[in-house]
Amino acid sequence: MALTNEEVVRKAPLFTALDDASASTLRASMKEVKINKGQTLFKEGDSGDRLFVVVEGKLKLGTSSGDGRENLLSILGPGDMFGELSLFDPGPRTATATAVTDSKLLSLANDQVIGWVTAHPEVSLQLLGRLAQRLRRTNEVLADLVFADVPGRVAKAIMDLGEKFGVKKDDGLYVNHDLTQEELAQLVGASRETVNKALADFTTRGWVRLEPRAVVVLDYERLSKRGR
Ligand code: CMP
Repeated sequence: MALTNEEVVRKAPLFTALDDASASTLRASMKEVKINKGQTLFKEGDSGDRLFVVVEGKLKLGTSSGDGRENLLSILGPGDMFGELSLFDPGPRTATATAVTDSKLLSLANDQVIGWVTAHPEVSLQLLGRLAQRLRRTNEVLADLVFADVPGRVAKAIMDLGEKFGVKKDDGLYVNHDLTQEELAQLVGASRETVNKALADFTTRGWVRLEPRAVVVLDYERLSKRGR
């Protein structure tokens, strides 16, 4: 059964360590932010004064090179937190956050975050845990860029998106990523042509079925083996 918005927010790292009463006090102190598909919440290089938790929708975090090429660091969904790096390591935003679909967020100002962390040390442990997880994942992505081929990275990206957004149905795992082919390529760190070729190959093998802005994983085992 789908989680309610409240349950989703409760899973965000700011909230997991809190009891229900503290969690609802924190929730009440956060500001609701709505952004439409395609709208940018903040840009790489901006100064940051708040962090965000996704309640509904999807966002992408991206960086761009001097010559305008784009790389996607992550696709965020309900329960994900972002925008905390410029708080813990004061400096400009390290990525641009853009809505992939209409989205609803909660925001908390930096000084409020510091207040919560100071009053509830267990909250900082959760935040550290989340940062460590992200570093682990980033190391993996880095290793894959060096060691894995493009089809391997595409397979892995689909599995990752599937873990986050996948819905199990009779014929397979529906991964509604809502990304364009260009965005998928930016997430994998390869050209659109090579990523399309890999997807076409997976389709021919019967591992996936492509739908507009979604992939249906038909053979989970083979696909995950390819992504390992
Ligand atoms: P901040 O730098 O304030 O704004 C951009 C946010 O993107 C950053 O905080 C992190 O929350 C998030 N972010 C940066 N790098 C990564 C990454 N490699 N993976 C996932 N999220 C990231």
